[in-house]
Amino acid sequence: MKILVTGGAGFIGSNFIHYWLKNHPNDEIFNLDKLTYAGNLKNLEDLQGSPNYHFVLGDITNVDIVRDMVRKCDLIVHFAAESHVDRSIIDAGEFIRTNVLGTQMLLQAAKDFDKRIHHISTDEVFGSLDLDSKEKFNEKTPYDPKNPYSASKAGSDHLVRAFYDTYGISMTISNASNNFGPYQFPEKFIPLAITNLLEGKKVPVYGDGLHVRDWLYVEDHCRAIDLILNQGEIGETYCIGGSTQDVNNLTVVKKIIEILGTDESAIEFVKDRPSHDRRYAIDWTKAKEKLGYEPQADFDQYLKQTVEWYKNNQSWWQEIKSGTYQEYYQKQYGG
Ligand code: NAD
Ligand code: DAU
Repeated sequence: MKILVTGGAGFIGSNFIHYWLKNHPNDEIFNLDKLTYAGNLKNLEDLQGSPNYHFVLGDITNVDIVRDMVRKCDLIVHFAAESHVDRSIIDAGEFIRTNVLGTQMLLQAAKDFDKRIHHISTDEVFGSLDLDSKEKFNEKTPYDPKNPYSASKAGSDHLVRAFYDTYGISMTISNASNNFGPYQFPEKFIPLAITNLLEGKKVPVYGDGLHVRDWLYVEDHCRAIDLILNQGEIGETYCIGGSTQDVNNLTVVKKIIEILGTDESAIEFVKDRPSHDRRYAIDWTKAKEKLGYEPQADFDQYLKQTVEWYKNNQSWWQEIKSGTYQEYYQKQYGG
């Protein structure tokens, strides 16, 4: 099978490509990525020259590239997006262009060439849960996005469903919670905390630090996508979450500090993010019952593994923090 992966040079996309080729070695992957600041070909350095992996530099809003790639492939797994909430608060423009318009370009091509598309989305489309409630998001939760990033992802989800209802395209959607693990750009909370602590810097904690996320190890997410691609029902949505719920941000930093053996004076409370969602929690019963999805380990074990990875791959994140990582592909692609 030939799979078009969009955004495969980013965090989850590159983990997915590694996961997929390890578990499906006869398939061929075409990775279409624009290499924004978040795209990093070092994430896939080990696959360079491999006969079943191909990198294609391109923008998902470029209709010619998108149509050419969709025509050539059997299936689309769509990760490409602007993904960082804080950046969307500063400027929403690229979020609307890539996340909404780019998704529409892919949907149009999927319709015209009759190809299946799996759309990777987020639990942020559901908005925010109360800290003291026991409520969780599920596939029937109404959409209520509260920042430009989540609004753009909600727009893309609606388009995917509208193309299914209107034209009968072959689609599935997953709404996943906060991923963490190897190759995550160190602007996101967990890699930012780990790398700042390794550099002897402070860790900025927004507001009172009591915001809760449902932490999902990236490999569990990749396995869930595999299950959806192989057993998911066309037209359906699956919510994917992690093994540990209701761990707040302050607790996460304290756990990382304990693993690294540093001290809590590194925690620095800073001004809160505007419209900061208080709590996310996912009910992944449907994925468990229909697909057999289940996280493979608990949060503490995955967090230890993740800290180890950042300790053992310091040049990977140091090049990002210093900006030199972009020279690597500029040499190859002149971008
Ligand atoms: P990321 O920011 O690490 O990577 C995004 C990738 O998309 C980069 O390689 C970037 O170069 C590429 N890209 C951006 N704009 C593009 C364009 N116009 N054309 C082609 N490529 C483009 O993101 P991530 O954290 O890996 O997230 C991947 C997907 O998963 C996104 O759709 C995101 O909304 C979704 N998601 C993320 C999380 C999370 O916790 N990170 C959770 C749930 C869902
Ligand atoms: O829930 C899924 C979403 O998770 C994905 O759709 C997004 O692409 C992904 O970026 C992530 O969004 P969050 O906003 O939840 O992730 P972030 O890592 O930015 O922040 C996690 C929590 O940590 C959040 O409560 C804000 C807080 N935070 C974040 C940063 C960057 C801090 O306290 N300090 C920080 O410096």
